[in-house]
Amino acid sequence: MSDYEPMIQQETQQRIAVYPGTFDPITMGHLDIIKRALNVFDRVIVVVAQNPGKQSLFSLEERKEMIQQSFSAEETRVEVDEVSGLLVNYAYRRGAKAIIRGLRAISDFDYEFQLALMNRRIEREVETVFLMTGFRWIFISSSVIKEVASHGGDVSGLVPDHVCERLRKRFMLGC
Ligand code: COA
Repeated sequence: MSDYEPMIQQETQQRIAVYPGTFDPITMGHLDIIKRALNVFDRVIVVVAQNPGKQSLFSLEERKEMIQQSFSAEETRVEVDEVSGLLVNYAYRRGAKAIIRGLRAISDFDYEFQLALMNRRIEREVETVFLMTGFRWIFISSSVIKEVASHGGDVSGLVPDHVCERLRKRFMLGC
């Protein structure tokens, strides 16, 4: 009987994934990836990380708030957190088996391949899982959204309404 215990434990264990990004701000493309990840994993921890190569428009707190506001209080399978050290160490500490990354086009692949291999070198227990972004969102990125909004362009439908409102206030423009 005891031979079966590890298998039973494994079956009842939650499958947790970490979805990292700068999220400056969160877009419909990111939300699409989270929705897809929830079809495969029991819980998704959306982690706001700092990319040293990027200067952000929104503070860490604002970015976390915008992600949180994109989900209803009933969506208990999504958690929002931040990380300051190495992401893969964070994922391991949280018991996550996978880091989710969204792929939009072939051009994403070089950079993603580099991140995934480096993360695996640091921590072999955590896999990187790539999910294809929905066709409707392959042309968007947070930078494009910010650029369009900064010139008064309409980004509604590409980001949640509350993000649109924040961009409008930040740039004091229509949205
Ligand atoms: N839909 C729309 N846009 C998407 C998208 C999707 N599905 N997937 C990615 N993007 C966009 C993002 O909006 C972002 O656009 P931007 O460059 O205009 O801001 C871009 O693609 C990629 O950014 P993101 O997914 O946020 O990742 P990143 O490259 O900014 O961040 C980290 C990479 C934060 C995950 C990485 O730096 C990290 O892990 N940092 C923690 C420290 C660490 O462990 N470093 C070692 C890494 S080996």
